[in-house]
Amino acid sequence: MAVGTFITIEGGEGAGKTTLITRLTDRIYRETKQKTMTTREPGGIPIAEAIRAVVLDRGNTKMDARTEALLYAAARRQHLAEKVIPALERGEIVICDRFVDSSLAYQGYARGLGIERVWEINRFATEDRMPDLTLYLDVDPEIGLSRIEANGAREVNRLDLENLAFHRRVREGYRIVAGMFPERFVTLDASADPDELEEQAWRYVASQLFPDS
Ligand code: TYD
Repeated sequence: MAVGTFITIEGGEGAGKTTLITRLTDRIYRETKQKTMTTREPGGIPIAEAIRAVVLDRGNTKMDARTEALLYAAARRQHLAEKVIPALERGEIVICDRFVDSSLAYQGYARGLGIERVWEINRFATEDRMPDLTLYLDVDPEIGLSRIEANGAREVNRLDLENLAFHRRVREGYRIVAGMFPERFVTLDASADPDELEEQAWRYVASQLFPDS
């Protein structure tokens, strides 16, 4: 039986997921003395990193939308089975940069495959193992993409190359996903500065970790 805490962080490009994850990990350690396992999708373990290399390769211009959805789901399955579930079974706190909601917003909605259809293949991949809490960092894609441009160190992947209209659809997709999973899905205003965003996020993480206080 999984007894740990599974938290996922979602958002469009340049929403600030990486910065928030570092801050939350530090804060959890300060407040609980517990170490957090941080990981990411697609990737996190060698098999899934190999799938990541294929799915994000800018040279793979021929990739079919269903192939893309299946590759993300395959990477998710392996990562969950090999890394996330064992950590939860050991009682750990796991923070994962992206999870199933990314597939629903990007492949299901923005690519037009249909959220319900992508949800079906992901139910197979995850056996319905869902996060306890999902923090979605919501920001206008124009702001997000300009943050990425300003951060020259970040790699530009195949999905970054999509146009602004695609990233707007991703945002709309996340809005729909928020309505599907109100019990775990929280939308945060990621146009806020990093301190303020951390405070917003911490409130939800703390009530997940200390439900009785
Ligand atoms: P990454 O470099 O991790 O980007 P980010 O910093 O934005 O998370 O690349 C992951 C990319 O893959 C990102 O563009 C979103 C996309 N993606 C999907 O389209 N579907 C998915 O299920 C996942 C996990 C990611």
